[in-house]
Amino acid sequence: MDDYQIPPPDLRGRAHADRMFRMLGALVTGYEWLANGAHSRRPSTQRVDRDLNLVVDEIRIEGQNVRSYRLVAAGGEKLPSWQPGCHLDVLLPTGRRRQYSLCGDPRDRGSYRIAVRRIDTGAGGSRELHDSVGTGCALTVRGPRNGFPYVRADRYLFIAGGIGITPILPMVKQAAADGAQWQLVYTGRSRASMPFLDELSALDPARVRLRPYDEFGFPASGSELLQYAPNQATVYCCGPAPIIANVRRDLPDSAAQALHFERFTTPPIVDGRPFEIALTRSNRVLTVPADRSALDVIRQQIPDIAYSCQRGFCGTCRSRVISGEVDHRDRVLTDGERTDTMTICVSRSRGDRIVLDL
Ligand code: FES
Repeated sequence: MDDYQIPPPDLRGRAHADRMFRMLGALVTGYEWLANGAHSRRPSTQRVDRDLNLVVDEIRIEGQNVRSYRLVAAGGEKLPSWQPGCHLDVLLPTGRRRQYSLCGDPRDRGSYRIAVRRIDTGAGGSRELHDSVGTGCALTVRGPRNGFPYVRADRYLFIAGGIGITPILPMVKQAAADGAQWQLVYTGRSRASMPFLDELSALDPARVRLRPYDEFGFPASGSELLQYAPNQATVYCCGPAPIIANVRRDLPDSAAQALHFERFTTPPIVDGRPFEIALTRSNRVLTVPADRSALDVIRQQIPDIAYSCQRGFCGTCRSRVISGEVDHRDRVLTDGERTDTMTICVSRSRGDRIVLDL
């Protein structure tokens, strides 16, 4: 989540003249939402067409390579409300757009807090924030958006991996405030790399279980993590793909009853087969291997191509299809849009070739 990218998509085939408009407009973002492991729903995202002009008010070191940023309104006004699970779309000075979970106090209408782990091998968003955005810097954000909704329940198991603690932390605090029965299992490379241990230590220590990999090994099995689930618990899980995969696999054998998760990495490509993409504006033909996305391949030729979630639900990467049959795998396009548009981050070609207006 540290390292989402953006720029614009091709919404309805309009040409480059309105590229910037589309860059700013293609912002229905969200995260994955599953219930009971078997029932998936489209994330409950909603379009929020409002830019907020914020200023970085404070930066804190929260762990190895992790900084938190407190953001306040440039004019000192009250900020829009949010709930645990919400995130902001942050427009970085270079034009990169990244999504960061809000990890502060929803009752504080005067500031937002996000936390970012610097990923040296990432696409540059976290490096830019760490290296170029200091106290007093202006940032434009959109949101808050709620793509990982926190649903009130009596019993919870929270599972967080590394920086995945960011959406989980406000949920844990909300559950504690509500008097719910809850447990948190928090994994990470090492204690030093795990942010917000100080805040968690202020909660009930008997309910917080730390599981650093350098002490317990990686990855944790799903059953190991789920053993702490209260009976009929709702599970909220955010972290690396192996943790989510393990929890999903072992959930049916646990005491938990429902799973909501948010993943940081792109989902694996299922039943992929190779195909060609012809890019008309670039006059290039590219081969997409079975195990790579079209976006991945196109990015090598067009580094500033628009994308964000890379999971088929924000719509940022949508591109106009000139010819070819699309294997739509997104959760954002309407049936009408699917007649001439594809999300290149997840969707593929049913045939050997697809022609895009790129
Ligand atoms: S990048 Fe979000 S749908 Fe493709």
